[in-house]
Amino acid sequence: MKKLLTHIKELIQVRDEQISFLKGREMQTLPTLKNAWLLIDNNLISDYGSMESLPEIEVDQTIDCSGKMVLPTWVDSHTHLVYAGNREQEFVDRINGLTYEEIANRGGGILNSAKKLQETSEEELYEQSKVRLEEVIKLGTGAIEIKSGYGLTQEAELKMLRVAQKLAQNYPITIKTTFLGAHALPPEYKSDKEAYINQIIDEMLPAVAEQLADYVDVFCEKGYFSIEDTQRIMKAGNKYGLKAKIHVNQFNAFGGIQAAVAQNALSVDHLEVMNTEDFEALQNSNTMPVALPSCSLFLSIPYTPAREMIDRGLPLALATDYNPGSTPSGNMNLVVSLACIKMKMTPEEAINAATINAAYAIDLSATHGSITKGKKANLMITKPIPSYGFLPYSFGTNHIESVILEGKFFN
Ligand code: NIG
Ligand code: FE
Repeated sequence: MKKLLTHIKELIQVRDEQISFLKGREMQTLPTLKNAWLLIDNNLISDYGSMESLPEIEVDQTIDCSGKMVLPTWVDSHTHLVYAGNREQEFVDRINGLTYEEIANRGGGILNSAKKLQETSEEELYEQSKVRLEEVIKLGTGAIEIKSGYGLTQEAELKMLRVAQKLAQNYPITIKTTFLGAHALPPEYKSDKEAYINQIIDEMLPAVAEQLADYVDVFCEKGYFSIEDTQRIMKAGNKYGLKAKIHVNQFNAFGGIQAAVAQNALSVDHLEVMNTEDFEALQNSNTMPVALPSCSLFLSIPYTPAREMIDRGLPLALATDYNPGSTPSGNMNLVVSLACIKMKMTPEEAINAATINAAYAIDLSATHGSITKGKKANLMITKPIPSYGFLPYSFGTNHIESVILEGKFFN
């Protein structure tokens, strides 16, 4: 099955050579091809070029993209998309003056979601989650990471990961899964954190490592899991072949980034609070820093200092953090806009951060994140817009007209 996209106003993120990620000044460049064509052969990008040099090709379908941009789909490398119910009441509580921490300390927050999830059947959890997945695909997401972490018992953690796996089987989107048993301390372990960590290491990790999880995550934060806890869990995960992706520096900077980099973590995520040692630890490492600006928006907390990080030569990826507590939105277009508006990233930097760098953060840069021959034909076609910079500029409007995953139109 061959599909030919013609008269593309601008084909964005065209990379003839495979790259794994971009850092510092490299992020300023977003290669494009104006008035372009692109050939899809089954599920892969087979060729592309400019309209003046369009060869004679026999195809099954031709799609005229006049006036429209074509981009590789967004990669969302950090979500908690499988969850039960919502936390609207906490949203109102925060409007009325309580902080995110105060709500958590009263037994709300993650524990509130865990209680709901434990009481929800696997079938119902799947039904709720698939609605969110379909929504984000239509908004242009073509590969996604989904974490556990609202189960907090072996049974419920496995249930979450099975739901993520079922989504992967039933939808044409690449899904990577992360085991986040160390998201919060379940109430029954309140006075014995060691026992819960032992359970994570000795029972849960072996149960998920074989088939259900690609990565291991820890909420490394004051009041949640310490540096030592995080190190133990990262090491145990590594033994089972699970690389670490760590929630860190959301509210406090106390050495978590250094610990994650030392353990060769694939990514460190959040990073709203950063100090000099944190920047230095990330220099020349293989660990991708990931910013989650819609979480900052929703919780009214600082934004990741993206400008300073990129100016210091670091790479950066962007993700949504889609979850019921801190970011009830999986819209990567909003994330790209916020990166420009609130974090002073240029449209070029933000698009690089949400495609190729994001793909690196879930080990997908060989197959996703750019227009490159042989990569997956995961593409978004915009509505007619004047330029790619219009995407972040004209925020809050959906400019994505259609999404192609594995060579097939999703909508
Ligand atoms: O990434 N910070 C830790 N975990 C999630 C939110 C958890 C919640 O409030 O449900 C996050 O923001
Ligand atoms: Fe998160």
